[in-house]
Amino acid sequence: MRKNVVAGNWKMNKTLQEGVALATELKEALAGVEVKCGVVVAPPLTHVASVVEAVKGSVIGVSAQNCAEKEKGAYTGEVSAEMIQSTGAGFVILGHSERREYYGETSEIIKNKIQLVLANGLTPIVCFGEVLAQREAEKHFDVVKSQVQEAMFDFSAADFGKMILAYEPVWAIGTGKTASADQAQEIHAFVRGIVAEKYGKQVADDCTILYGGSCNPANAKELFSNPDVDGGLIGGASLKAADFMAIIQAF
Ligand code: 13P
Repeated sequence: MRKNVVAGNWKMNKTLQEGVALATELKEALAGVEVKCGVVVAPPLTHVASVVEAVKGSVIGVSAQNCAEKEKGAYTGEVSAEMIQSTGAGFVILGHSERREYYGETSEIIKNKIQLVLANGLTPIVCFGEVLAQREAEKHFDVVKSQVQEAMFDFSAADFGKMILAYEPVWAIGTGKTASADQAQEIHAFVRGIVAEKYGKQVADDCTILYGGSCNPANAKELFSNPDVDGGLIGGASLKAADFMAIIQAF
């Protein structure tokens, strides 16, 4: 069955102490509240194990923001999917546009990372989305289609079914410019359609597709009310417990 999820991508923000404090505040805010979606936080890697500890006993799942493309060995500075799994985290964000743009991540790299994440029993949250010039040139459907196909379609239906997808139009990330509810719905329905073509209707119906890009307490309800928008991947607004709580409660 399809699951609604609200995930907070903290990006490169918060010290360890600030991160643990935010996670603890969130845990306390969620206690005793009826939550109608999965809740995930993705702190920087240095904080993951401590945040796992801080949110124990709550509904909050913990995600990394990236992992290595290699399994293990002489790759100074890298952190493997197995290491992330060993912290107790359950998710890894992959293919974020910031990784594609600033760190040269290709679909091939993202695919390899998905493989390692799945092999370690973690859930990949795989991002894709067009840049402004591509939308203006009306190429957004083509761009999204090839990103999804290249990174995610070389897997079995069973493995694909373990992934969470996240549509993040790059022009909406951190800009305050949100995709309209209609724009989000249009792409999400399109993605669900190509998933149905590849893996069949049941897999497509069960697939969680999040929206990301300037999602906030004021627009979350409208975005999430779309039939094909199954939650959000939240950047800036996930850094304040009250804002993130308000987005969670938009369900
Ligand atoms: P903002 O919510 O800050 O626009 O970031 C979205 C994002 O990139 C989440 O991964």
